[in-house]
Amino acid sequence: MALLQVVEAEVRFGGVHALRGVDLSVDPGMVTGLIGPNGAGKTTLFNTICGLQSLNGGRISFDGNSMDGLGPHKRARLGIARTFQRLEVFGSLSVRENVLAAAEIRRRWSRDKSDAAANADEMLALVGLTALADRSADTLPTGQARLLELARALATKPRLLLLDEPSSGLSDTEGDELGDLLVRLAEGGMGVLLVEHDMALVMRICAVLNVLDFGAVLTVGTPEQIRADERVRAAYLGTVDDPEEEAVAHPVEPLAMTGVGADG
Ligand SMILES: Nc1ncnc2c1ncn2[C@@H]1O[C@H](COP(=O)(O)OP(=O)(O)OP(=O)(O)O)[C@@H](O)[C@H]1O
Ligand SMILES: [Mg+2]
Repeated sequence: MALLQVVEAEVRFGGVHALRGVDLSVDPGMVTGLIGPNGAGKTTLFNTICGLQSLNGGRISFDGNSMDGLGPHKRARLGIARTFQRLEVFGSLSVRENVLAAAEIRRRWSRDKSDAAANADEMLALVGLTALADRSADTLPTGQARLLELARALATKPRLLLLDEPSSGLSDTEGDELGDLLVRLAEGGMGVLLVEHDMALVMRICAVLNVLDFGAVLTVGTPEQIRADERVRAAYLGTVDDPEEEAVAHPVEPLAMTGVGADG
């Protein structure tokens, strides 16, 4: 049984049909990718999974239990954690306090009464932010703030981790390290659902990729299958023959599919 099962998810914002019958499953023990052009519905799908956005149709189950009617804090308590595309750190707190806040909430929920401060420091070390622990969170550059959100999510000891573009703002080396960390977390038994525009990273660490386009699942497959899929290229690049027009067909993220079609 999948850890997370989304079935026929529907979301409408007035006239915008943001999710159109989306099916998606996430298994523990591997990184699952969710890719697609800007506006495809990736963040909306995350919001429905963590309970910030209600469904207009369909259903979501986590570990075999329906998430119907459960708010975000209940889902967090059951083991769903996330990071945000638009950063949501507690700016007036220090880096350590941001993670400690999550560690203390988790300690209150859990039978595990181990030290929250130790948990927080361990998570900061895991993401490589120990040296910045006493900095005010609002002074962090974007990349580090994303790592801070990751540490905060991990301090709840989640079973399912949802990451919305975690590598943006990171250097190539930092992005590689993040990728390695996500693989290690998955190998430890976590389910990881990754939204990411860095295709080289996605192709390297995901076992399965779900491609979303205009709110619907275009295809699901291994990185090799996705890389070879003409429909995926078309969704990103537009079905145009003139290479000069391709950049126009996908004006917001013209380099989003960098790595697709490349060897290796
Ligand atoms: N709260 C909202 N109210 C109205 N429309 C919304 C809202 N949130 C998202 N949308 C619309 O729903 C669609 C899907 O948006 P979403 O943010 O989920 O896409 P995305 O795949 O995350 O895009 P990106 O890659 O740019 O982050 C878009 O057309 C967007 O404008
Ligand atoms: Mg988004």
